[in-house]
Amino acid sequence: MRYRAKPPAQMLLISRRVPVALVLAILLLVACTAPPPVALPSPPDERPVVRDSEVRMNQLIPKPAAVTPRAGVFTFQPVTTIHVEPHGEEMLWLGQYLAERLGPATGYQFVVQPGGAMSAGNVWLTTSGADPALGEEGYELIVTPDGVMLRAHRPAGVFRGIQTLRQLLPPAIELQQAQPGAWELPAVEIRDVPRFAWRGAMLDVARHFFGVADVKRFIDLLALYKMNVLHLHLSDDQGWRIEIQSWPNLALYGGSTQVGGGAGGYYTQAEYADIVAYAARRYIIVVPEIDMPGHTNAALASYAELNCDGVARTLYSGVEVGFSALCVESDTVYQFVDDVVRELAALTPGPYMHIGGDEVQTLDAAAYAGFIERAQAIVQAHGKRMIGWEEVAHATLSPTSVVQSWRSTVAAEAVRQGAKVIMSPASRTYLDMKYDPNTPLGLSWAGLVEVQDAYAWDPATLLEGVGEQDILGVEAPLWTETIATREQMDSMVFPRLLGIAEIGWSPAHGRSWEEYRLRLAAHGPRLAALGVAFYRSPQVPW
Ligand code: ACM
Repeated sequence: MRYRAKPPAQMLLISRRVPVALVLAILLLVACTAPPPVALPSPPDERPVVRDSEVRMNQLIPKPAAVTPRAGVFTFQPVTTIHVEPHGEEMLWLGQYLAERLGPATGYQFVVQPGGAMSAGNVWLTTSGADPALGEEGYELIVTPDGVMLRAHRPAGVFRGIQTLRQLLPPAIELQQAQPGAWELPAVEIRDVPRFAWRGAMLDVARHFFGVADVKRFIDLLALYKMNVLHLHLSDDQGWRIEIQSWPNLALYGGSTQVGGGAGGYYTQAEYADIVAYAARRYIIVVPEIDMPGHTNAALASYAELNCDGVARTLYSGVEVGFSALCVESDTVYQFVDDVVRELAALTPGPYMHIGGDEVQTLDAAAYAGFIERAQAIVQAHGKRMIGWEEVAHATLSPTSVVQSWRSTVAAEAVRQGAKVIMSPASRTYLDMKYDPNTPLGLSWAGLVEVQDAYAWDPATLLEGVGEQDILGVEAPLWTETIATREQMDSMVFPRLLGIAEIGWSPAHGRSWEEYRLRLAAHGPRLAALGVAFYRSPQVPW
């Protein structure tokens, strides 16, 4: 709002003794000759200037638990040093990671140094003296005009806080060529902890294969929004995507096609280990899924002995579901399951192994439950916790097992058995659902999922019998029947994934779609700077 113009100064000089007629005449003259009020010079606008950096403080996604604005800004300079403490390899790596995020756009070569205090003009990353209540991933970020302190109880919290620091800088910070500054952070105090331990995304690399570079890029984007789980759907009817040394045909033959009949592909164990290590550096665990006993045509085509009739199936490149199943009475099948789980468990430091278990239409209930219970025992024998899609709740679950809810209320049965739940309701989180009837890609069996649908719901109130304490977290799956390229992936994942990230991280109270859509709009330039071909939903004022 601008100040209204003051009355013209001449009017104030009129004496009360001047006759009324003369006053009126003068007033008339003044009215006719005075410049219109809008043309008068305005007094200086006395409102404090709102700097871009202050605006960005209110545009963070996920929204932090507590943000307290302070006066001023911190400006990165070419001499700004990143101090880390303690000075082991992990903190030095975090300092280097920050330097690498900020280096290209600023054009500054930030030096990373071991050091034990907040010092003038510098950034200090530390786990010393942090409040243990910050837990595994919480952090506090204190920015003053003199310096920056990012402190967390654990290094993962430092990493999450670095993402906040990135988002406090202009979107141009994400560009890979030097840009004009200034590189200002708003002075602020942020204390932030996640609501849920599990904030995941799933990538179906079975229907269409995505190579290591695409997966790493996806991991980097998950990291920016503080997500911490990458669930890889590594096998399905159309393809087997991970080398298993004791059953080599799974990848060599079972991985040789995909939906539509393309060449497919698979990860060697070394490539998978590289993905896992890349994710681990970003404090993201990889959860491998081998879907069984259904969704197994690629395996059934690779080895005849996995079929009850001993006849290998032909490779499949269509999109039907529910027609395949391992021969659950066969000892060979349990040897196969044991070998696959053993090799994958050895490559996977994270505590979970996903065994699928969804959409089996060719087994009776007892045969299905019996298989799931044996698979659960095998997973546990290899030191992992079993995860299955919600159908596994029809089997007897151990309390360490986890059920991924996707379409109904059966997860409440898992809760009754003491298992935890990951919330992936298809009508909210499935990133392969169309946004609207005009979306060229995707499916619509779970409905249309616009950006608002993906954001405006709460995991703890969706299912009867599944409350906050039963929920491990949220996950957004990208099934890839219709998605074959990085650009296609981007258009379905973004921007909906940001809403799921916020649901997983931010406190439930205070979330509102009307406020979020404005904050989300501010991430358009950031996503664009990162080369993400996101969908410009008309629901968001980009
Ligand atoms: C699923 O969507 N079949 C888990």
